[in-house]
Amino acid sequence: MTTQQPAPQGPAGTTAPPPLGTYDLTDPRTFLDVDPHALWRRFRAESPVHWHATDTPVPGFWVISTYADVVTIYRDNKRFTSEQGNVLATLLQGGDSASRKMLAVTDGPRHREIRNLMLKSFSPRVLEPVVAGVHRRTRELVAQALDRGELDFVTDVADHIPINTIGDLMDVPAADRERLVEWNTQTLSRHSSEDSMLDEVMARNEILLYFSELAAERRRNPGDDVISALATATVDGEPLSEEEIVFNCYSLILGGDESSRMSSIGGLIAFAENPGEWRKLKDGEAGVGSATEEVLRWTTPAMHFGRRALVDVPVRDQVIRAGEVVTLWNSSANFDEDVFPDPYRFDIGRTPNKHVAFGHGPHFCLGAFLGRVHVNAMVDALRTMVSGIRLQGPPQRLYSNFVHGYSGLPVGLTAEPAAEAAAGKVTG
Ligand code: HEM
Repeated sequence: MTTQQPAPQGPAGTTAPPPLGTYDLTDPRTFLDVDPHALWRRFRAESPVHWHATDTPVPGFWVISTYADVVTIYRDNKRFTSEQGNVLATLLQGGDSASRKMLAVTDGPRHREIRNLMLKSFSPRVLEPVVAGVHRRTRELVAQALDRGELDFVTDVADHIPINTIGDLMDVPAADRERLVEWNTQTLSRHSSEDSMLDEVMARNEILLYFSELAAERRRNPGDDVISALATATVDGEPLSEEEIVFNCYSLILGGDESSRMSSIGGLIAFAENPGEWRKLKDGEAGVGSATEEVLRWTTPAMHFGRRALVDVPVRDQVIRAGEVVTLWNSSANFDEDVFPDPYRFDIGRTPNKHVAFGHGPHFCLGAFLGRVHVNAMVDALRTMVSGIRLQGPPQRLYSNFVHGYSGLPVGLTAEPAAEAAAGKVTG
Protein backbone atom coordinates (compact mmCIF):
# COMPACT_ATOMS: atom_id res chain seq x y z
CA MET A 1 0.00 0.00 0.00
CA THR A 2 1.16 3.50 -0.61
CA THR A 3 1.62 4.18 3.11
CA GLN A 4 4.50 1.69 3.27
CA GLN A 5 8.08 1.77 2.14
CA PRO A 6 9.04 -0.03 -1.08
CA ALA A 7 11.10 -3.21 -0.89
CA PRO A 8 14.80 -2.67 -1.46
CA GLN A 9 14.83 -3.34 -5.19
CA GLY A 10 17.23 -1.28 -7.24
CA PRO A 11 17.12 -0.78 -11.01
CA ALA A 12 17.83 -3.95 -13.00
CA GLY A 13 21.47 -4.85 -12.89
CA THR A 14 22.35 -2.72 -9.87
CA THR A 15 20.76 -4.21 -6.73
CA ALA A 16 19.22 -7.65 -6.82
CA PRO A 17 16.39 -8.06 -4.31
CA PRO A 18 17.46 -10.04 -1.24
CA PRO A 19 16.66 -13.77 -1.31
CA LEU A 20 13.23 -14.62 0.14
CA GLY A 21 14.97 -16.54 2.93
CA THR A 22 16.25 -13.27 4.38
CA TYR A 23 12.75 -12.05 5.29
CA ASP A 24 11.84 -13.05 8.84
CA LEU A 25 8.05 -13.43 8.89
CA THR A 26 8.08 -14.05 12.65
CA ASP A 27 9.32 -10.50 13.19
CA PRO A 28 6.63 -7.76 13.16
CA ARG A 29 9.25 -5.29 11.96
CA THR A 30 9.47 -7.09 8.61
CA PHE A 31 5.96 -5.94 7.81
CA LEU A 32 6.75 -2.32 8.58
CA ASP A 33 9.96 -2.21 6.57
CA VAL A 34 8.89 -3.66 3.22
CA ASP A 35 6.20 -3.16 0.62
CA PRO A 36 4.13 -6.27 1.42
CA HIS A 37 2.68 -6.48 -2.09
CA ALA A 38 6.11 -6.65 -3.70
CA LEU A 39 7.20 -9.25 -1.16
CA TRP A 40 4.14 -11.49 -1.57
CA ARG A 41 4.27 -11.24 -5.35
CA ARG A 42 7.76 -12.70 -5.13
CA PHE A 43 6.68 -15.49 -2.76
CA ARG A 44 3.82 -16.49 -5.11
CA ALA A 45 6.04 -16.41 -8.19
CA GLU A 46 9.32 -17.79 -6.84
CA SER A 47 8.40 -20.03 -3.92
CA PRO A 48 4.66 -20.55 -3.43
CA VAL A 49 5.22 -23.39 -0.93
CA HIS A 50 8.13 -21.95 0.99
CA TRP A 51 10.05 -23.40 3.94
CA HIS A 52 10.86 -20.70 6.52
CA ALA A 53 13.52 -21.66 9.06
CA THR A 54 13.34 -20.41 12.67
CA ASP A 55 15.45 -20.52 15.79
CA THR A 56 12.47 -21.47 18.00
CA PRO A 57 11.81 -24.97 19.40
CA VAL A 58 9.83 -25.53 16.18
CA PRO A 59 12.49 -25.80 13.46
CA GLY A 60 10.51 -23.91 10.86
CA PHE A 61 7.19 -23.52 9.09
CA TRP A 62 5.67 -23.50 5.63
CA VAL A 63 4.59 -20.24 4.05
CA ILE A 64 1.63 -20.69 1.68
CA SER A 65 0.92 -17.66 -0.47
CA THR A 66 -1.27 -18.48 -3.48
CA TYR A 67 -5.04 -18.16 -3.27
CA ALA A 68 -5.58 -21.71 -4.57
CA ASP A 69 -3.32 -23.34 -1.96
CA VAL A 70 -4.57 -21.16 0.90
CA VAL A 71 -8.19 -22.06 0.16
CA THR A 72 -7.41 -25.78 -0.28
CA ILE A 73 -5.64 -26.00 3.10
CA TYR A 74 -8.30 -23.91 4.92
CA ARG A 75 -10.90 -26.39 3.65
CA ASP A 76 -8.97 -29.47 4.79
CA ASN A 77 -9.43 -29.74 8.56
CA LYS A 78 -8.98 -33.53 8.38
CA ARG A 79 -5.31 -33.34 7.39
CA PHE A 80 -4.54 -29.90 8.87
CA THR A 81 -5.56 -29.26 12.47
CA SER A 82 -6.16 -25.98 14.33
CA GLU A 83 -5.96 -27.71 17.70
CA GLN A 84 -2.27 -26.98 18.24
CA GLY A 85 -2.69 -23.29 17.50
CA ASN A 86 -4.03 -21.28 14.57
CA VAL A 87 -1.60 -18.34 14.51
CA LEU A 88 2.14 -18.34 14.05
CA ALA A 89 2.92 -17.23 17.62
CA THR A 90 1.14 -20.17 19.31
CA LEU A 91 2.15 -22.69 16.64
CA LEU A 92 5.80 -21.82 17.19
CA GLN A 93 5.39 -22.11 20.96
CA GLY A 94 4.18 -25.66 20.32
CA GLY A 95 0.51 -25.24 21.24
CA ASP A 96 -2.36 -23.06 22.40
CA SER A 97 -3.59 -23.22 26.01
CA ALA A 98 -7.14 -22.73 24.67
CA SER A 99 -6.95 -25.88 22.55
CA ARG A 100 -10.29 -27.76 22.53
CA LYS A 101 -11.80 -25.04 24.73
CA MET A 102 -12.10 -22.20 22.21
CA LEU A 103 -13.93 -22.63 18.90
CA ALA A 104 -11.11 -21.46 16.63
CA VAL A 105 -8.69 -24.04 18.09
CA THR A 106 -11.11 -26.98 18.21
CA ASP A 107 -11.76 -29.43 15.38
CA GLY A 108 -13.98 -32.42 14.70
CA PRO A 109 -17.44 -33.03 16.16
CA ARG A 110 -16.87 -30.76 19.19
CA HIS A 111 -16.07 -27.86 16.83
CA ARG A 112 -19.32 -28.45 14.93
CA GLU A 113 -21.38 -28.64 18.14
CA ILE A 114 -19.95 -25.47 19.69
CA ARG A 115 -20.04 -23.63 16.36
CA ASN A 116 -23.73 -24.49 15.86
CA LEU A 117 -24.46 -23.32 19.36
CA MET A 118 -22.61 -20.01 18.89
CA LEU A 119 -24.11 -19.47 15.44
CA LYS A 120 -27.50 -19.19 17.15
CA SER A 121 -26.30 -15.83 18.48
CA PHE A 122 -24.45 -14.67 15.35
CA SER A 123 -26.58 -15.68 12.37
CA PRO A 124 -27.80 -12.87 10.08
CA ARG A 125 -31.42 -13.55 11.14
CA VAL A 126 -30.66 -13.15 14.86
CA LEU A 127 -28.43 -10.12 14.28
CA GLU A 128 -30.83 -8.29 11.95
CA PRO A 129 -32.11 -6.02 14.79
CA VAL A 130 -28.51 -5.01 15.62
CA VAL A 131 -27.82 -3.63 12.14
CA ALA A 132 -29.77 -0.38 12.56
CA GLY A 133 -27.96 0.29 15.86
CA VAL A 134 -24.52 -0.10 14.22
CA HIS A 135 -25.52 2.36 11.48
CA ARG A 136 -26.87 4.82 14.07
CA ARG A 137 -23.75 4.65 16.26
CA THR A 138 -21.46 5.03 13.22
CA ARG A 139 -23.37 8.07 11.96
CA GLU A 140 -23.28 9.69 15.39
CA LEU A 141 -19.52 9.27 15.68
CA VAL A 142 -18.90 10.49 12.13
CA ALA A 143 -21.13 13.52 12.87
CA GLN A 144 -19.06 14.31 15.99
CA ALA A 145 -15.88 13.91 13.94
CA LEU A 146 -17.21 16.35 11.34
CA ASP A 147 -18.02 18.89 14.06
CA ARG A 148 -14.43 18.63 15.18
CA GLY A 149 -13.02 18.75 11.64
CA GLU A 150 -9.59 17.44 12.63
CA LEU A 151 -9.22 14.31 14.70
CA ASP A 152 -7.63 10.93 15.21
CA PHE A 153 -9.88 8.56 13.31
CA VAL A 154 -8.70 5.55 15.35
CA THR A 155 -9.18 6.82 18.88
CA ASP A 156 -12.02 9.29 18.22
CA VAL A 157 -14.16 7.19 15.88
CA ALA A 158 -13.24 3.59 15.07
CA ASP A 159 -12.35 2.52 18.62
CA HIS A 160 -15.91 3.18 19.77
CA ILE A 161 -17.96 1.20 17.28
CA PRO A 162 -17.41 -2.60 17.15
CA ILE A 163 -16.60 -2.85 20.87
CA ASN A 164 -19.98 -1.35 21.66
CA THR A 165 -21.81 -3.73 19.32
CA ILE A 166 -20.14 -6.84 20.71
CA GLY A 167 -20.31 -5.28 24.19
CA ASP A 168 -24.09 -4.86 23.85
CA LEU A 169 -24.49 -8.42 22.53
CA MET A 170 -22.50 -9.76 25.49
CA ASP A 171 -23.98 -7.19 27.90
CA VAL A 172 -20.54 -6.01 29.00
CA PRO A 173 -20.90 -2.98 31.32
CA ALA A 174 -20.23 0.21 29.35
CA ALA A 175 -17.62 1.43 31.84
CA ASP A 176 -15.39 -1.61 31.14
CA ARG A 177 -15.31 -1.39 27.35
CA GLU A 178 -12.48 1.09 26.94
CA ARG A 179 -10.22 -1.16 29.01
CA LEU A 180 -11.20 -4.12 26.84
CA VAL A 181 -10.25 -2.28 23.61
CA GLU A 182 -6.82 -1.56 25.07
CA TRP A 183 -6.36 -5.17 26.21
CA ASN A 184 -7.52 -6.43 22.80
CA THR A 185 -4.91 -4.38 20.98
CA GLN A 186 -2.18 -5.45 23.38
CA THR A 187 -3.14 -9.11 23.00
CA LEU A 188 -3.18 -9.25 19.21
CA SER A 189 -0.52 -6.75 18.32
CA ARG A 190 1.50 -4.02 19.87
CA HIS A 191 1.43 -0.28 19.46
CA SER A 192 5.20 -0.36 19.00
CA SER A 193 8.31 -2.48 19.45
CA GLU A 194 8.68 -0.99 22.94
CA ASP A 195 5.64 -2.88 24.26
CA SER A 196 6.83 -6.18 25.60
CA MET A 197 5.68 -9.76 25.22
CA LEU A 198 4.85 -9.59 28.92
CA ASP A 199 2.26 -6.86 28.23
CA GLU A 200 0.70 -9.19 25.67
CA VAL A 201 0.44 -12.10 28.13
CA MET A 202 -0.85 -9.88 30.91
CA ALA A 203 -3.52 -8.35 28.69
CA ARG A 204 -4.70 -11.83 27.66
CA ASN A 205 -4.89 -12.89 31.32
CA GLU A 206 -6.80 -9.74 32.23
CA ILE A 207 -9.42 -10.51 29.57
CA LEU A 208 -9.74 -14.13 30.71
CA LEU A 209 -10.10 -13.15 34.36
CA TYR A 210 -12.60 -10.47 33.46
CA PHE A 211 -14.84 -12.92 31.60
CA SER A 212 -14.44 -15.61 34.22
CA GLU A 213 -16.05 -13.27 36.76
CA LEU A 214 -18.73 -12.09 34.35
CA ALA A 215 -19.60 -15.68 33.30
CA ALA A 216 -19.95 -16.81 36.93
CA GLU A 217 -22.35 -13.96 37.56
CA ARG A 218 -24.40 -14.73 34.40
CA ARG A 219 -24.64 -18.36 35.38
CA ARG A 220 -26.28 -17.25 38.62
CA ASN A 221 -28.41 -14.55 36.96
CA PRO A 222 -28.76 -15.29 33.25
CA GLY A 223 -29.98 -12.54 30.97
CA ASP A 224 -30.72 -12.23 27.27
CA ASP A 225 -27.08 -11.95 26.13
CA VAL A 226 -24.38 -14.09 24.51
CA ILE A 227 -22.43 -14.75 27.74
CA SER A 228 -25.61 -16.02 29.40
CA ALA A 229 -26.35 -18.14 26.32
CA LEU A 230 -22.91 -19.80 26.62
CA ALA A 231 -23.12 -20.07 30.42
CA THR A 232 -26.49 -21.85 30.33
CA ALA A 233 -26.13 -23.87 27.09
CA THR A 234 -25.95 -27.64 27.01
CA VAL A 235 -24.54 -30.01 24.39
CA ASP A 236 -25.94 -33.54 24.66
CA GLY A 237 -27.37 -32.56 28.04
CA GLU A 238 -23.98 -31.40 29.39
CA PRO A 239 -23.19 -27.75 30.16
CA LEU A 240 -20.05 -26.21 28.62
CA SER A 241 -17.04 -26.24 30.92
CA GLU A 242 -16.06 -23.03 32.67
CA GLU A 243 -12.98 -22.82 30.44
CA GLU A 244 -15.02 -23.26 27.26
CA ILE A 245 -17.28 -20.38 28.30
CA VAL A 246 -14.43 -18.07 29.24
CA PHE A 247 -12.19 -18.81 26.23
CA ASN A 248 -15.11 -18.37 23.82
CA CYS A 249 -16.02 -15.03 25.41
CA TYR A 250 -12.39 -14.04 25.00
CA SER A 251 -12.46 -15.00 21.33
CA LEU A 252 -15.71 -13.07 20.73
CA ILE A 253 -14.49 -9.86 22.32
CA LEU A 254 -11.22 -10.07 20.40
CA GLY A 255 -12.71 -11.18 17.07
CA GLY A 256 -15.70 -8.88 17.47
CA ASP A 257 -13.64 -5.76 18.04
CA GLU A 258 -10.18 -5.70 16.49
CA SER A 259 -10.63 -6.83 12.87
CA SER A 260 -13.76 -4.80 12.13
CA ARG A 261 -12.11 -1.72 13.61
CA MET A 262 -9.00 -2.22 11.47
CA SER A 263 -11.02 -2.68 8.27
CA SER A 264 -12.92 0.56 8.77
CA ILE A 265 -9.71 2.50 9.47
CA GLY A 266 -7.96 0.98 6.45
CA GLY A 267 -11.04 1.75 4.35
CA LEU A 268 -10.84 5.45 5.21
CA ILE A 269 -7.17 5.53 4.19
CA ALA A 270 -7.97 3.71 0.94
CA PHE A 271 -10.63 6.29 0.02
CA ALA A 272 -8.31 9.18 0.92
CA GLU A 273 -5.55 7.74 -1.28
CA ASN A 274 -7.82 6.82 -4.20
CA PRO A 275 -9.84 9.91 -5.08
CA GLY A 276 -11.27 8.26 -8.22
CA GLU A 277 -12.86 5.47 -6.15
CA TRP A 278 -14.06 7.99 -3.56
CA ARG A 279 -15.84 9.85 -6.40
CA LYS A 280 -17.36 6.60 -7.64
CA LEU A 281 -18.72 5.93 -4.18
CA LYS A 282 -20.07 9.45 -3.76
CA ASP A 283 -21.67 9.48 -7.23
CA GLY A 284 -23.30 6.09 -6.68
CA GLU A 285 -21.33 4.60 -9.59
CA ALA A 286 -20.49 1.65 -7.31
CA GLY A 287 -22.62 0.37 -4.47
CA VAL A 288 -21.83 0.31 -0.75
CA GLY A 289 -22.06 -3.51 -0.84
CA SER A 290 -19.28 -4.02 -3.38
CA ALA A 291 -17.23 -1.20 -1.77
CA THR A 292 -17.49 -3.04 1.57
CA GLU A 293 -16.10 -6.25 0.05
CA GLU A 294 -13.25 -4.34 -1.60
CA VAL A 295 -12.37 -2.62 1.69
CA LEU A 296 -12.23 -6.05 3.35
CA ARG A 297 -9.99 -7.44 0.59
CA TRP A 298 -7.81 -4.35 0.48
CA THR A 299 -7.27 -4.14 4.23
CA THR A 300 -7.15 -7.90 5.06
CA PRO A 301 -6.84 -7.27 8.83
CA ALA A 302 -6.01 -10.90 9.69
CA MET A 303 -2.76 -11.28 7.75
CA HIS A 304 -2.36 -14.98 8.32
CA PHE A 305 -3.79 -18.01 10.08
CA GLY A 306 -2.04 -21.34 10.57
CA ARG A 307 -2.45 -25.07 10.99
CA ARG A 308 -0.38 -28.14 11.81
CA ALA A 309 -0.29 -31.08 9.38
CA LEU A 310 -1.54 -34.38 10.81
CA VAL A 311 -0.23 -36.52 7.93
CA ASP A 312 2.17 -36.03 5.02
CA VAL A 313 0.47 -33.86 2.38
CA PRO A 314 1.95 -33.10 -1.05
CA VAL A 315 1.41 -29.47 -2.09
CA ARG A 316 2.78 -28.55 -5.53
CA ASP A 317 6.36 -29.82 -5.69
CA GLN A 318 6.81 -30.07 -1.90
CA VAL A 319 5.64 -32.49 0.78
CA ILE A 320 4.38 -31.00 4.04
CA ARG A 321 5.31 -33.63 6.63
CA ALA A 322 3.08 -34.74 9.51
CA GLY A 323 3.70 -32.45 12.50
CA GLU A 324 4.90 -29.47 10.47
CA VAL A 325 3.45 -25.98 10.86
CA VAL A 326 1.75 -24.34 7.88
CA THR A 327 0.90 -20.64 7.64
CA LEU A 328 -1.77 -19.38 5.23
CA TRP A 329 -1.22 -15.77 4.18
CA ASN A 330 -4.53 -14.05 3.53
CA SER A 331 -2.63 -10.86 2.77
CA SER A 332 -1.03 -12.62 -0.19
CA ALA A 333 -4.01 -14.69 -1.35
CA ASN A 334 -6.22 -11.58 -1.53
CA PHE A 335 -3.81 -10.02 -4.05
CA ASP A 336 -3.17 -13.13 -6.14
CA GLU A 337 -3.19 -11.98 -9.77
CA ASP A 338 -4.54 -15.41 -10.88
CA VAL A 339 -7.80 -14.66 -9.06
CA PHE A 340 -8.08 -10.87 -8.80
CA PRO A 341 -7.48 -8.95 -12.05
CA ASP A 342 -5.37 -5.86 -11.44
CA PRO A 343 -5.06 -6.81 -7.73
CA TYR A 344 -3.19 -3.70 -6.60
CA ARG A 345 -5.99 -1.45 -7.76
CA PHE A 346 -8.48 -0.46 -5.05
CA ASP A 347 -11.60 -1.04 -7.17
CA ILE A 348 -14.85 -0.62 -5.27
CA GLY A 349 -16.89 -2.03 -8.14
CA ARG A 350 -14.82 -5.26 -8.19
CA THR A 351 -16.98 -8.28 -8.86
CA PRO A 352 -16.61 -11.15 -8.30
CA ASN A 353 -14.60 -10.52 -5.15
CA LYS A 354 -14.22 -13.83 -3.37
CA HIS A 355 -11.56 -12.63 -0.92
CA VAL A 356 -10.42 -14.70 2.05
CA ALA A 357 -10.40 -11.87 4.61
CA PHE A 358 -12.78 -14.03 6.71
CA GLY A 359 -10.90 -17.26 6.01
CA HIS A 360 -12.56 -20.21 4.33
CA GLY A 361 -13.96 -23.66 5.09
CA PRO A 362 -14.97 -25.12 8.47
CA HIS A 363 -13.42 -22.27 10.51
CA PHE A 364 -14.83 -19.51 8.27
CA CYS A 365 -15.32 -16.46 10.47
CA LEU A 366 -18.29 -16.86 12.79
CA GLY A 367 -18.71 -13.08 12.90
CA ALA A 368 -18.46 -12.42 9.16
CA PHE A 369 -21.98 -10.99 9.00
CA LEU A 370 -21.27 -8.64 11.90
CA GLY A 371 -17.85 -7.68 10.50
CA ARG A 372 -19.49 -6.81 7.17
CA VAL A 373 -22.19 -4.78 8.93
CA HIS A 374 -19.54 -2.63 10.60
CA VAL A 375 -17.57 -1.94 7.44
CA ASN A 376 -20.78 -1.36 5.48
CA ALA A 377 -22.04 1.15 8.07
CA MET A 378 -18.75 3.07 7.94
CA VAL A 379 -18.63 3.16 4.13
CA ASP A 380 -22.25 4.30 4.04
CA ALA A 381 -21.72 7.03 6.67
CA LEU A 382 -18.65 8.34 4.81
CA ARG A 383 -20.54 8.32 1.49
CA THR A 384 -23.54 10.28 2.75
CA MET A 385 -22.00 12.57 5.38
CA VAL A 386 -18.44 13.36 4.29
CA SER A 387 -17.37 15.35 1.24
CA GLY A 388 -13.60 15.32 1.75
CA ILE A 389 -10.99 13.21 3.60
CA ARG A 390 -7.47 14.56 4.20
CA LEU A 391 -4.71 12.46 5.74
CA GLN A 392 -2.86 14.83 8.05
CA GLY A 393 0.20 12.86 8.99
CA PRO A 394 1.50 9.35 8.60
CA PRO A 395 -0.87 6.67 9.91
CA GLN A 396 0.64 4.84 12.90
CA ARG A 397 0.93 1.14 12.04
CA LEU A 398 0.40 -1.65 14.56
CA TYR A 399 3.46 -3.70 15.35
CA SER A 400 2.32 -7.19 14.39
CA ASN A 401 2.76 -10.07 11.96
CA PHE A 402 -0.88 -11.03 12.53
CA VAL A 403 -3.10 -7.93 12.54
CA HIS A 404 -2.66 -5.45 9.74
CA GLY A 405 -3.89 -2.14 11.06
CA TYR A 406 -3.32 1.18 12.73
CA SER A 407 -3.19 2.64 16.21
CA GLY A 408 -3.36 6.26 15.11
CA LEU A 409 -4.64 8.14 12.05
CA PRO A 410 -4.71 11.95 12.05
CA VAL A 411 -7.30 13.13 9.51
CA GLY A 412 -9.33 16.13 8.51
CA LEU A 413 -12.92 15.50 7.44
CA THR A 414 -15.21 17.94 5.65
CA ALA A 415 -18.97 17.64 5.92
CA GLU A 416 -21.16 16.97 2.94
CA PRO A 417 -23.20 20.18 2.55
CA ALA A 418 -26.34 18.20 1.77
CA ALA A 419 -25.95 16.18 4.98
CA GLU A 420 -25.39 19.36 7.02
CA ALA A 421 -28.49 20.88 5.51
CA ALA A 422 -30.49 17.77 6.33
CA ALA A 423 -29.22 17.96 9.93
CA GLY A 424 -30.43 21.57 10.08
CA LYS A 425 -26.94 23.07 10.33
CA VAL A 426 -27.14 25.06 7.11
CA THR A 427 -30.15 27.14 6.23
CA GLY A 428 -31.12 28.76 2.97
C1 HEM B 1 -12.66 -16.84 12.61
C2 HEM B 1 -11.40 -12.76 10.26
C3 HEM B 1 -14.94 -10.34 12.59
C4 HEM B 1 -15.37 -14.11 15.61
C5 HEM B 1 -12.07 -15.97 11.72
C6 HEM B 1 -11.13 -16.34 10.69
C7 HEM B 1 -10.77 -15.18 10.05
C8 HEM B 1 -11.49 -14.09 10.64
C9 HEM B 1 -9.78 -15.05 8.88
C10 HEM B 1 -10.63 -17.77 10.38
C11 HEM B 1 -9.67 -18.31 11.44
C12 HEM B 1 -9.08 -19.66 11.08
O1 HEM B 1 -9.35 -20.19 9.99
O2 HEM B 1 -8.31 -20.21 11.89
C13 HEM B 1 -12.26 -11.76 10.68
C14 HEM B 1 -12.35 -10.42 10.10
C15 HEM B 1 -13.36 -9.76 10.75
C16 HEM B 1 -13.89 -10.65 11.74
C17 HEM B 1 -11.47 -9.91 8.96
C18 HEM B 1 -13.90 -8.34 10.57
C19 HEM B 1 -13.69 -7.59 9.51
C20 HEM B 1 -15.39 -11.16 13.58
C21 HEM B 1 -16.45 -10.83 14.51
C22 HEM B 1 -16.53 -11.89 15.39
C23 HEM B 1 -15.57 -12.89 14.98
C24 HEM B 1 -17.27 -9.53 14.46
C25 HEM B 1 -17.44 -12.09 16.57
C26 HEM B 1 -18.63 -11.73 16.69
C27 HEM B 1 -14.70 -15.18 15.03
C28 HEM B 1 -14.68 -16.53 15.60
C29 HEM B 1 -13.92 -17.33 14.72
C30 HEM B 1 -13.46 -16.44 13.65
C31 HEM B 1 -15.37 -16.98 16.89
C32 HEM B 1 -13.62 -18.83 14.83
C33 HEM B 1 -14.59 -19.60 13.95
C34 HEM B 1 -14.33 -21.10 13.95
O3 HEM B 1 -13.24 -21.53 14.31
O4 HEM B 1 -15.25 -21.85 13.57
N1 HEM B 1 -12.28 -14.59 11.68
N2 HEM B 1 -13.19 -11.84 11.68
N3 HEM B 1 -14.89 -12.41 13.89
N4 HEM B 1 -13.95 -15.16 13.87
FE1 HEM B 1 -13.63 -13.53 12.74
